Amino acid sequence: MAPEPDRRSFLSFATFGIGAIFSAVLGIPLGAYFLDPRHRKGPKSDLKLVSDVTLADLVVGTPPMQGVIRDTRTDGWTLYPNDVLGRVWVVQLGVRPNLTTPAKVEEFNASAMPAKEAYVIVFTTICPHLGCSVNLDGAGTGFACPCHAATFVLNGARAAASNPALRGMDTLEWEIDPEDPDANRIKVKYQNFKSLQVAKEPMS
Ligand code: FES
Repeated sequence: MAPEPDRRSFLSFATFGIGAIFSAVLGIPLGAYFLDPRHRKGPKSDLKLVSDVTLADLVVGTPPMQGVIRDTRTDGWTLYPNDVLGRVWVVQLGVRPNLTTPAKVEEFNASAMPAKEAYVIVFTTICPHLGCSVNLDGAGTGFACPCHAATFVLNGARAAASNPALRGMDTLEWEIDPEDPDANRIKVKYQNFKSLQVAKEPMS
């Protein structure tokens, strides 16, 4: 026998009410999770932290330091959370600017690359000739590629006209990590560039 209309309405309201209560119980914490700023995605930055380099350890005229760029990488179904994407050379060319307050760091980071490179210049370690990894030369006063003997001076320019590399080492955009209270860590826009050409052109 079909339930009476009143009984049917009651059952519908009861079902709806229980569903609403469950939604509220589950939804409130979920909403709070996403409203909490700690769980919101920040602006996506393409700048990556350089590990193993502290600006305080660099001195003008001393050998540059090599830093490592790490990030999460996926390969098919495999996730590599701290994979090495590449390496960079970090060279101090000028005196350290005043970076004693967050406002000074922000002002420095907003300056154009040539101004930043008057202090520190960052290159990818990849040789612009055919992509080998460029090392420090024996004296630590420049760079030398082990593959076909390209050489570069400390600011990354080609060291000799007979150089097999058609351009200097590829500089990367960088900034002081704004979250570092000591203004000693740096972040770079890590990129690869096309080899065997005079012009510096990012790989697409
Ligand atoms: S790859 Fe560096 S000189 Fe050829």
